[in-house]
Amino acid sequence: MNDIFGTEVSLETTAARDSWNKMQMAFLAHSAATPNHLADVLEREPGFAAAHAVKGLFYMMLGKRELIEVAIEANKTAQSCPKSPLKRERSFVRALNLWLAGHMIQARDEVETILIATPTDSLAMKISHAMSFIMGDRQMMRRSLESVLPSYDPTHKASGYIKGCYAFALEETGDYTRAEEIGREGVLQAPDDAWGLHAVAHVYDMTAQTTKGLDWLTGREKSWAHCNNFRYHVWWHKALMLLESGHIDQVMDLYDTEIRADKTDDYRDISNATALLSRLELYGHNVGNRWEELAAFSENRTEDGCLIFADLHYMLALMGGNRKDAIRKIMARMQRDAARNGSDSDRVMASPGLSAMSGLEAFSEADFTGAFANLSAARSQMQLAGGSHAQRDIFERITIDAGIRSGAFAQAEAILKDRQTNRGGAEDNFASVRFQMISDARGDAQKQPAE
Ligand SMILES: [Fe+2]
Repeated sequence: MNDIFGTEVSLETTAARDSWNKMQMAFLAHSAATPNHLADVLEREPGFAAAHAVKGLFYMMLGKRELIEVAIEANKTAQSCPKSPLKRERSFVRALNLWLAGHMIQARDEVETILIATPTDSLAMKISHAMSFIMGDRQMMRRSLESVLPSYDPTHKASGYIKGCYAFALEETGDYTRAEEIGREGVLQAPDDAWGLHAVAHVYDMTAQTTKGLDWLTGREKSWAHCNNFRYHVWWHKALMLLESGHIDQVMDLYDTEIRADKTDDYRDISNATALLSRLELYGHNVGNRWEELAAFSENRTEDGCLIFADLHYMLALMGGNRKDAIRKIMARMQRDAARNGSDSDRVMASPGLSAMSGLEAFSEADFTGAFANLSAARSQMQLAGGSHAQRDIFERITIDAGIRSGAFAQAEAILKDRQTNRGGAEDNFASVRFQMISDARGDAQKQPAE
């Protein structure tokens, strides 16, 4: 039988197939219901290896040490199921196996092989997209989508969702005009596609169009109300725009009522929160005791070592909460990971991880010269830390501020200009304030009487 995308599937009952279809559509929409539909498939047909593999891949995406155990169990069960007659289903199992063995790039490439044979498989499309996103592989995100898009016709059930993914890939590779156009088109087709909706918000963030961004998100809250914790991330985007336009009370309110309404230790939630508090502090705002709960969660994550992106944000929380012992622990663990060099993740821990984390540690100790040296050394590799430009911008901002505070005005200014180029020439509030600070500092220096 075939699934909702017309792809052959080795399920035996229409009830299980219907749940599989619901799971796929829910996954595309970042819906909180995704695991329930997947559980339903597994309950109805526990011998369906691909569903166990997909479950394992989903758990791996959560980037938490204890959840790797769940993925290992899912892998064991998938391996013990009757071998699927379908190559694409066996590829999902192989991909999980590769990721668990530390080969995330190969795992993503295995999912890509599915798309070569079956370009309209939207589950493989979205999994590949998610994995490339986690690894910061924006070029692959774009290439993958461009290779399958010609096979999608407007009647394909994921036609709107793939446009959302493509809009995001276009935005991350700097084609802001097309990203906005295709993202808006996708949302019209799939109004519950929070990913596509948020891709358009990314465009407005990168191009400093905060009013347009706020207009875009306001009134569309229903588009992300159904989401898993991704909904906190969409609220985070709104908060970034409010921050850039100076509405600090509204930022604090959104932080308390939406972004951190649910005090989880999911690394993506921690990343939203820590990046926002750090941005507020760099603007000189007092964030009260908001660091405390984030630091408490992050203290328990020093040995995780799942993703450098998560570690960098745990570090922000530990800095904000002044947890020196935990900072020492996470630094020591990163050194060990980097020295081991056994997995794709270890290699990213080594570079840019070690320099970036050392730079943050120095920044927390007000050693701005050391911070700037390390953070600027990491800068060219920071894409490999994964996530989006908007997410990694906090490290860019700290780098620039370390440069300014240490008196490295020319270098800080060069980074500000490069940051602006990456944004299509747009100058946001952060950049305007920093350019002014550099100009003022230079003016003051010139006014100093000669000794
Ligand atoms: Fe985002």
